[in-house]
Amino acid sequence: MMITKPQLLQAALSFLILCMELQLKVVCFLQPDSLLDETYLEFTNEATDFSPAKEYDYIIVGGGTAGCPLAATLSEKYSVLLLERGGVANLDPNVLYEDNLFNPLLTANNNDSPAQTFTSEEGVLNARGRVLGGSSMINFGFYSRADDYFYKNSGIEWNTSGVKSAYEWVEDSIVTRPNHLGRWQTSMLNALLQSGVDPANGFTLNHVEGTKISGSTFDDSGRRHGSVELLNKAKPGNLKVVVHATVDRVIFSTSKSLGIVANGVRYHDSEGIYHEVHVRKPGEVILSAGALGSPQLLLISGIGPLSYLSSLKIPVVRDNPYIGKFMVDNPRPGINILVPVASLDVGARVVGIVKNGPYIESSAAPRQVPFLGSIIPLNSSVLVIGGKIIGPKSSGSLQLISPSDVNVSPSVRFNYYSHTNDIIECGKVVEVLRDFLGTQAMEEYKFSDISGGRDFRYIGPSLPEDPSHLKSNEAFCRETLSTFWHFHGGCLVGKVVDSDLKVIGVDSLRVIDASIFSSSPGTNPQATLMMLGRYIGVKILNERAPN
Ligand SMILES: Cc1cc2nc3c(=O)[nH]c(=O)nc-3n(C[C@H](O)[C@H](O)[C@H](O)COP(=O)(O)OP(=O)(O)OC[C@H]3O[C@@H](n4cnc5c(N)ncnc54)[C@H](O)[C@@H]3O)c2cc1C
Ligand SMILES: *[C@@H]1O[C@H](CO)[C@@H](O)[C@H](O)[C@H]1NC(C)=O
Ligand SMILES: *[C@@H]1O[C@H](CO)[C@@H](O)[C@H](O)[C@H]1NC(C)=O
Repeated sequence: MMITKPQLLQAALSFLILCMELQLKVVCFLQPDSLLDETYLEFTNEATDFSPAKEYDYIIVGGGTAGCPLAATLSEKYSVLLLERGGVANLDPNVLYEDNLFNPLLTANNNDSPAQTFTSEEGVLNARGRVLGGSSMINFGFYSRADDYFYKNSGIEWNTSGVKSAYEWVEDSIVTRPNHLGRWQTSMLNALLQSGVDPANGFTLNHVEGTKISGSTFDDSGRRHGSVELLNKAKPGNLKVVVHATVDRVIFSTSKSLGIVANGVRYHDSEGIYHEVHVRKPGEVILSAGALGSPQLLLISGIGPLSYLSSLKIPVVRDNPYIGKFMVDNPRPGINILVPVASLDVGARVVGIVKNGPYIESSAAPRQVPFLGSIIPLNSSVLVIGGKIIGPKSSGSLQLISPSDVNVSPSVRFNYYSHTNDIIECGKVVEVLRDFLGTQAMEEYKFSDISGGRDFRYIGPSLPEDPSHLKSNEAFCRETLSTFWHFHGGCLVGKVVDSDLKVIGVDSLRVIDASIFSSSPGTNPQATLMMLGRYIGVKILNERAPN
């Protein structure tokens, strides 16, 4: 059964009543702009109501940030089945509105919540999407294209004009150039420039050194436009999207003449009923299940390190020692300060790209958000100011907790700061933040004390006293260890997939998501992941039917 317009209207109405009852004014007033394009609902189905055809040209696992643009693109010429384990969040105010930015994380792991949290083995709380649109539906929306280092070292042979048109295909639909900056992002911009993170680049989506304003998948009314909306560009008759469809296995055949071939997948619906679907050759199975989901699925399906799979009694389809290896998460050293200003703009629009150094970003948590266990007084906000450590040298691996049940999240270890280089990089964040806090632009965010002095009020650690001291930096870096949520790896190009993102040694199987990255692209990865889905999709179309 499809999710029909009348059902939608009814849901919208009950939502309106609920929001009047709760007096969520902001959300209620913003509701009318949900008259946006939801064409994708016409070909989106609940798994329990959906009878799959026997064959599709392409089966894509994971309707996430990269999976949605990929599915829409391939449907231009071929039949596509897109299987997503989560639901549709088109009426969920926590997902839709920037004012609720922190809510997906705060409500994570509720029954069928769009965000699912996980804790790395070293105890860092992290999250990933579990909803149509994937992590682009729970993220902070900051949108910025990849950097040159990424293009040169990604292992993919990029076609520059193809990259440009793929970015534009995404940006024309879902990316907003902010028409003004709120009070906090304006101060952030000024503080970065006053602390020497220059030049001032104004607005640009490109990765350029200095301080810039970038795009956002939140529009100027604070409404999110995630990857899910890229499905609107599909050829409707050719695409079936199925939600609450969790893929358990890739199905292979092995023969002397053809080698190992991916033939289809098995998935289950929310009632636990299993379904098997196949690809029509020369079609493919494509994994876009994310940096945790894709390596997990390969391992469960029997592709991975031989001795590891054998120890778990998983029948080995193909030995590959690198699956689930090189898992990297860029640490986010930073500070949280309580500031005597209410209702600051929450979302990030500005980034400082420091020469040979980190990227500095910030958002403001509204005071209603319980923060680090503190009670936040009236007329105040919490600023979360952090740096992204570029190209961390520390990496770890992913292990299955269950060798057969895909619903059990794998365990992951990133080995944060195990390499001294990363502590040195963290020291650069400390230096930049020290200068940042010392600027005129930050004066208004200090509190006055009784004796007339003015100072910042920290929630959690303040910056270390002696920034030139490696040991005191190290203590600060370890104490404030947290994630930028840009974790990647597990199916690296050159190790698990080739430069066309085809799984090495297996026919008709690709991986297209953050698991293929050996470095995190740009200041923030979602732009590149959406571009990648479109880019590889176009490449597949061109290769199959060259004009
Ligand atoms: C809190 C937070 C804030 C962030 N802020 C930003 C930001 O401001 N800007 C930015 O650029 N990036 C940001 N990021 C990072 C960015 O969102 C992610 O790197 C990116 O979305 C990952 O895309 P992906 O396609 O690799 O995976 P995802 O988008 O996570 O997609 C994977 C999809 O596969 C599905 N799936 C997994 N396993 C299965 C299975 N077995 N069967 C069926 N479906 C399955 C999942 O449910 C999910 O929908 C943030 C991330 C988080 C968590
Ligand atoms: C590069 O991409 C463009 C735009 O998608 C396409 O027209 C062109 O054929 C591509 N060139 C090569 C060499 O792949
Ligand atoms: C909050 O600020 C407003 C306007 O500046 C002021 O009228 C009000 O008394 C303040 N409330 C508290 C609790 O400080």
